[in-house]
Amino acid sequence: MTILTINGFRRVVDMPDDTPLLWVIREHLQMTGTKFGCGAGLCGACTVHLNGEAVRSCQTSLSDAAAGEVTTIEGLDPQGEHPLQRAWVAEQVPQCGWCQSGQIMQAASLLQKNANPTDAQIVKAMNGNLCRCMTYVRIKKAIKRAAADMRKAKEI
Ligand code: FES
Ligand code: FES
Repeated sequence: MTILTINGFRRVVDMPDDTPLLWVIREHLQMTGTKFGCGAGLCGACTVHLNGEAVRSCQTSLSDAAAGEVTTIEGLDPQGEHPLQRAWVAEQVPQCGWCQSGQIMQAASLLQKNANPTDAQIVKAMNGNLCRCMTYVRIKKAIKRAAADMRKAKEI
């Protein structure tokens, strides 16, 4: 038995220690916002946060995840209204949508460290998150919009 802290809740997980976190999230906890893409650490569709850092959940074991705090797209904001989520809607970013929760989690990790990223910094940070629908231009616009909104909110 493993106790996993996820989105602020402690959940008991009866799976082997080396089970990929992605499997735990989707199959055991039935939280399907986090997507399976390649299963090999190459696409970013499975991105979640471990202690605030973006990680590939397909490459993170249950035991490693249980040592920290996991956040998925469902826990990024209690109302689903994180500035990035609002910006994603405003810029109409998704096409098929499959990569998008991973994109948002990766972007959230960037904005935690850098409140005003340049285009080049965004491209670098988001480089490992692939989108087969080529929504990259809108992703960049949405990240800039969310960053500006977050800076403005801090001034108030
Ligand atoms: S599913 Fe994890 S990186 Fe592709
Ligand atoms: S929106 Fe389809 S893969 Fe990114």
